[in-house]
Amino acid sequence: MYFPGLFLFFSLFSLVLSEEPFNSHILPRPLILEYPGNIIETTQFKQLDNELQLQCTSWRFAVEANNLNPWKTIPQECVHYVRDYVMGRGYRLDLERVSNEAGVFAKSVQKSEDGKDAWVFDVDETLLSNLPYYADHGYGLEIFDPVEFDKWVEKALAPAIEPSLKLYKEILGLGFKVFLLTGRSEKQRIVTEENLIKAGFQDWDKLILRASDDHGKLATIYKSEKRSEMVKEGYRILGNSGDQWSDLLGSAISNRSFKLPNPMYYIP
Ligand SMILES: *[C@@H]1O[C@H](CO)[C@@H](O)[C@H](O)[C@H]1NC(C)=O
Ligand SMILES: [Mg+2]
Repeated sequence: MYFPGLFLFFSLFSLVLSEEPFNSHILPRPLILEYPGNIIETTQFKQLDNELQLQCTSWRFAVEANNLNPWKTIPQECVHYVRDYVMGRGYRLDLERVSNEAGVFAKSVQKSEDGKDAWVFDVDETLLSNLPYYADHGYGLEIFDPVEFDKWVEKALAPAIEPSLKLYKEILGLGFKVFLLTGRSEKQRIVTEENLIKAGFQDWDKLILRASDDHGKLATIYKSEKRSEMVKEGYRILGNSGDQWSDLLGSAISNRSFKLPNPMYYIP
């Protein structure tokens, strides 16, 4: 189902931000008119549609629960489903729920006065949204193209994930140290800082990117190593927010992990 307001918002975003021609493939589909003589056909159509909806919801559940592991691209038949989800209200609601729950935990958890309580945030699809890029690349149907994606990153135009920005401000306000831990390369530090600030994120304590000797590592290993360093420095990682399980699993895991939805790609 479409929610024209939000849809328009995202369309305008990708239109303004990507500086590329408007994507006709993300325009709303025409209304399906139901004629009285067509009731049986319409019913069959709806059953198929409903079955596909269920199949793709089931697939997305398996993705979010990390049962489907690993996977490279979204199923061809679920492209419209994923598009409708990420461009519509479902994704927004899921993002709001995870941010709200993280905020409830952050407020309630026992904190200390020594300035060593920390919260870790991933960047892509956690603080910043690359939806304008993925809207142009089949919402995860295309195999990830690092060269193309890096061109998008260089533009520093990724908008904030608004519910995450709200949480981010709450976390800072509660006195947590904020560590941004991203799989992006050290070479992208300046554009990443520029993008984060433009999107409304500031005052982080550390932005950690992959150095040259981190590049061959799985994200789970790289991120675990970086969290272990924080723990060695005496930080208590009370919360961690990420859209990938590889942001959250491994060693030196946080007291509470918050998994943001991401049905578009999987990073091991
Ligand atoms: C966080 O987890 C550690 C290890 O399980 C535990 O010792 C500590 O009490 C927890 N901290 C808070 C504030 O719940
Ligand atoms: Mg991410």
